Amino acid sequence: MPDADSIKESKQYYLDIPPRNEAFFVKGANALDWGMQNRLSRIFRPESGRTVMLAVDHGYFQGPTSGLERVDVNILPIAPYADALMLTRGMLRTTVPPTYGRGVVVRASGGPSVLKDLSNEQLAVDIEDAVRMNVSALAVQVFIGGECETQSIYNLTRLVDMGNRYGIPILGVTAVGKDMARNARYFRLACRIAAELGAHFVKTYYVEEEFETITASCPVPIVMAGGKKLPELDALTMAYKAVSEGAAGVDMGRNIFQSDAPIAMIQAVNKVVHENMKPEDAYELFQTLRAEQK
Ligand code: R5P
Repeated sequence: MPDADSIKESKQYYLDIPPRNEAFFVKGANALDWGMQNRLSRIFRPESGRTVMLAVDHGYFQGPTSGLERVDVNILPIAPYADALMLTRGMLRTTVPPTYGRGVVVRASGGPSVLKDLSNEQLAVDIEDAVRMNVSALAVQVFIGGECETQSIYNLTRLVDMGNRYGIPILGVTAVGKDMARNARYFRLACRIAAELGAHFVKTYYVEEEFETITASCPVPIVMAGGKKLPELDALTMAYKAVSEGAAGVDMGRNIFQSDAPIAMIQAVNKVVHENMKPEDAYELFQTLRAEQK
């Protein structure tokens, strides 16, 4: 039987190695709890600090959007190439296998259809249900300058309170009404309000002028919204400019799933976002992959 001294000597306390104390890699998230940071790490890749989210939540206000008529057929094959899928809880539970190992961002506001005033939203998911689904984040729309601006901000702040209680990050989505100018001045305002009121990351549109002032003045990561379908090279160029000008990734829908080669397109977007591939090179890659995948 070893004596007490020899047991002590066999232990190694690495007294010469200082304890690890690394800053968390997501902007503005250093002071968040472990669960929040863990969930953010399921959305943003620690190696690049960025994300490629695939948005397929359009049906919550506009029904079966072109390209999303059959999410099981059209989207499930693309989903493994995304860092996170953004969708409704209905589509998650009915269609996405629980073995899906990437991030899941669930749309948590809704109400009006495309036939009505879209800003008139309410919260549409209970926090307990979010926990039950093990979501990585919840998304809520804010309509700055919209008819129901205050109500949409109240949706955000309530959701942030609930998210903070359970360790679930909140994505504030800046929605643009028909009457609002899509310029840096407007998006600086909208993104900053969302972050000041507690959103842990913000989704907004790319603008050609002064986009870097939107990312600079927002204390949390900004992910670029895709918007309507563009030619692939234009969409890749927009993603490249956005990440070069401070965005922490993209949350694209139609520009991926409405492409005639969605898997090739998301692979090209991944190269741009995570490896800073130039848009022309990414487009060439897209064409090669498209030809291979036909
Ligand atoms: C926008 O507010 C919703 O989240 C959309 O359903 C979706 O994110 C839009 O994606 P995209 O404009 O890239 O098709």
